[in-house]
Amino acid sequence: MKLFSSVNDVTDIQQLLSDAISLKKKPFVDEQLGKHKTLGLIFLNPSLRTRLSTQKAGMNLGMQVIVMNLDKEGWALETQDGVIMNGTTVEHIREAAGVMGQYCDIIGFRSFPGLVDREDDYAETIFNKFVKFSGVPVVSLESATRHPLQSLADLITIEELKKTAKPKVVLTWAPHVKPLPQAVANSFAEWMNKADYDFVITHPEGYDLAPQFVGDATVTNNQDEALSGADFVYVKNWSSYNDYGKILTDGEGWMMTNEKLKLTNNAGVMHCLPVRRGLELSHEILDGPNSLVLNQANNRVWAAQAVLKEMLESISLT
Ligand code: CP
Repeated sequence: MKLFSSVNDVTDIQQLLSDAISLKKKPFVDEQLGKHKTLGLIFLNPSLRTRLSTQKAGMNLGMQVIVMNLDKEGWALETQDGVIMNGTTVEHIREAAGVMGQYCDIIGFRSFPGLVDREDDYAETIFNKFVKFSGVPVVSLESATRHPLQSLADLITIEELKKTAKPKVVLTWAPHVKPLPQAVANSFAEWMNKADYDFVITHPEGYDLAPQFVGDATVTNNQDEALSGADFVYVKNWSSYNDYGKILTDGEGWMMTNEKLKLTNNAGVMHCLPVRRGLELSHEILDGPNSLVLNQANNRVWAAQAVLKEMLESISLT
């Protein structure tokens, strides 16, 4: 594997899942694989989980890990091609990515969408430029439209805890005060559509995800109907795709609560974190027995380690 930016970069999902679950049992079994190899983790946006879990995954594989908050610690980055750089930007992504590729064997890169120009965000312009000019294998640490390491960790969590072969999994929109990317929801939908689950998406009117991510999911604006009999409920806010980047409603009544949990099959409740308590998810759920948020966070390590392991194996073959 030379690129991990979406589920479509994975040749064998079952193998990746199986690797992740094995690594969780024996984290240091491959610690020679990454010896004398450098992992660079480059962030254009804040992170807690992605940064620490991917760093830990690299270290478990014996890699040296360097981390840079490029937006705060680097030179002001120019991402447009062909511009005369006589303004505030100091270094072009062409050189910046190329230089990082000189120092690293694998790079993880995070770049959120601007949520202004949908076409540009959905073309993954910045992420794709970074991949092209770095010249080394790249792992997405969340791009404009996807968060594949999170989705793989979510899939591991469901596979570990499911009680039936084909659980009902519901992705439900939640309220938020800021316009958030669609990336986590898109990515979760993309991975759930590859799994053999009964997958339902529920959101208020106007919050439809892009059709390529919705895929074969059942979509409804009736949250109670969606929650009925659910085995897993994934809670996440996203801004509108059609009215791009906009908040269309305060979402009153959409927060997941214990009252709503009664509609489900005693569902495990998931969220990628960070979560706004009392707005996206109730305190009672987060502090209660149905919350799976720490299981998901734990599985971020094994998701990243399985992906990095595949990449290191590819490098050692070339
Ligand atoms: N879930 C997630 O990606 O968390 P961070 O933004 O803190 O990395």
